[in-house]
Amino acid sequence: MSPRPWNAKITGIAFGGDYNPEQWPEEVWADDVRLMKDAGVTMVSVGIFSWAVVQPEPDRFEFATFDRVLDTLADAGIVAGLATMTASPPPWLARLHPETLPVTADGVTLWPGGRQHYCPSSPVYRRYAGQLVERVAQRYGDHPALAEWHIGNEYGCHVSRCWCDVSAADFRVWLQRRYGDVDGLNEAWSTTFWSQRYSSFEEVQPPRSAPTFPNPAQEIDFTEFGSDALLACYLMEKEIVGRITPDVPVTTNFIPMPRGTDPFAWAPHQDVVSYDSYPDPYDPDAHVLAGFGYDLMRSLRHGQPWMLMEQAPGAVNWRPRNSPKPPGLMRLWSWQAVAQGADAVLYFQWRQSRGGAEKFHSAMVPHGGEHTRGFQEVRELGAELRAAAEVAGGRSTADVALVMDWRSWWGLQRSSHPAVLEQFDAITAHYAPLLGRSVAVDVVPPSRDLSAYKLVVVPNLYLVSEADAARLTAYVDGGGHLLMSFFSGIVDEYDRVHLGGYPAPFRDVLGLRVAEFWPLEEGGTVDVELAGTVTPATVWSEIVEPAGAEVVGTFASSEPAGGPAVTRNAYGTGVAWYVGTRLADGAMDALVGRVLTGAGVTPVLPGLPAGVQATVRSNDSGRYAFLLNHATATALVPVPAATALVGPAPSGGRVELPPRGVAVLRLEDRLS
Ligand code: GLA
Repeated sequence: MSPRPWNAKITGIAFGGDYNPEQWPEEVWADDVRLMKDAGVTMVSVGIFSWAVVQPEPDRFEFATFDRVLDTLADAGIVAGLATMTASPPPWLARLHPETLPVTADGVTLWPGGRQHYCPSSPVYRRYAGQLVERVAQRYGDHPALAEWHIGNEYGCHVSRCWCDVSAADFRVWLQRRYGDVDGLNEAWSTTFWSQRYSSFEEVQPPRSAPTFPNPAQEIDFTEFGSDALLACYLMEKEIVGRITPDVPVTTNFIPMPRGTDPFAWAPHQDVVSYDSYPDPYDPDAHVLAGFGYDLMRSLRHGQPWMLMEQAPGAVNWRPRNSPKPPGLMRLWSWQAVAQGADAVLYFQWRQSRGGAEKFHSAMVPHGGEHTRGFQEVRELGAELRAAAEVAGGRSTADVALVMDWRSWWGLQRSSHPAVLEQFDAITAHYAPLLGRSVAVDVVPPSRDLSAYKLVVVPNLYLVSEADAARLTAYVDGGGHLLMSFFSGIVDEYDRVHLGGYPAPFRDVLGLRVAEFWPLEEGGTVDVELAGTVTPATVWSEIVEPAGAEVVGTFASSEPAGGPAVTRNAYGTGVAWYVGTRLADGAMDALVGRVLTGAGVTPVLPGLPAGVQATVRSNDSGRYAFLLNHATATALVPVPAATALVGPAPSGGRVELPPRGVAVLRLEDRLS
């Protein structure tokens, strides 16, 4: 089914944020609307944490507040992403049904007082949530303010799995569906190890706290089960709103990096993907991992524009220390999301709370009101987004795919491995040179068709099925270029080692064998000789035996000294590169440059200065370049003939961008 449009009632990029008027006396609402209009707000997310307001008791629904909220918005011409309100159950549910509360692996119950205190598998939670959704959908399904259903909120943010008895029973059903009989499960989980063999599904438990390392396959399955249990909650709600309001689109907002919910499994069930992004202003490279998240969001539904559902206007309140965003940074990071495919720039939240746990989280309207820098920057951004309305709907094409797989991630980060490896360190090491060179990247699962890409980057694919490995091999055989790094292709989908020498399913395509892993001690380095220079590498080394691959870089110290660190293998009509360590940033950047050249991949615009990110989006109205200066110095950016929609106009074929500067250009040559 093609997606139902969520922005039919909006012109351009949607602008707004979470709106929680129930926290305020109604006199404040008029001021809200006045300021929303002033700031150019077009869309707000309403009712996310309002279950206790609309259903104060099990048998009593009170919609008067939200009737007035939605009418007020409709009168102001502002649309609502209306929440199904199920994200935080009211205290009475726990009083009546304590069995709905989630339990940790240590057996600790998570009580009401925060939020998201529900067991995803609880039929009682699902029944009450379903009743509420039914009432909300019936009440507001044809309200003129309604633009989309915002189902749940940040599924799995606090509770992505529950270890209670109800979940245990649900886990067994999930396992039975997957494995058919208990022998299948025993085989997949390698239960002959440590006397773990099960004689019936009834004996299987969630991986509760155990004396030592739990069974890794059990843990991976349990994590996937957790994602599926939450997805079942989402789908239960989606079915209800779909029945009552078949024309209203649905979404749910992913957390920044949704470890507990596999977005590739969820995205097909959404009309539009939405994402909450909270890069840390203290981190000068925060835009890199944020950018990875944006490319992932754009790729989830194959290039369809997505929604930045939440970002902070300034500081958050949930890190140990919370930096405000200095002038211009909120603007730069907002445009980064649009540059990478967002058609909505929304915040958490509209008006800064007076009480509760988030009163020190920034908001579009801070405690200090409309005369603050925060509100003024919000207002200015709203005006800019209006000026660039024509970019909405634009899509990008990418020649590079970066492979990311959730089950592999779940399998990777374990303490019973040669070294504890962090999935996102591997991703950053490979993604940063791509973003730094303004090469467009799609983020794809290994099961996706790769044939359209010139280069496929595999930072780390610890766990891979035979079928996916064969697909990657066939891609290279057919002329594709592959860049793969260490500890990939090690185990199958059940965390069982692919036998025949590491990395067995990729040995042919890479033209090598890894004889021994040699992880470095904490903070240790190993020298690598690459392209005529010696650079330090970190995290990992290994003893690689070439079997046809050309040695491009060599370990120059420590145990693997003299052995290959970087290789290149011509395979079929393609090429496969392999990196057996974590190169220093400069060396990795140079290597990625070489790989890109070999694959015939170019940046979206030529001659970009360091620190300037460029992207291009195209739609029926034109072709648009986005220029973002993440560096601390002014940059002169060469540009083709273009008209500025936002930021400085080109002059003499260049745009001068100050630090944190942004330019959005309509390119004159639509095909160049
Ligand atoms: C998440 C939640 C919001 C709010 C913000 C604060 O994104 O969805 O309700 O708590 O975090 O950063």
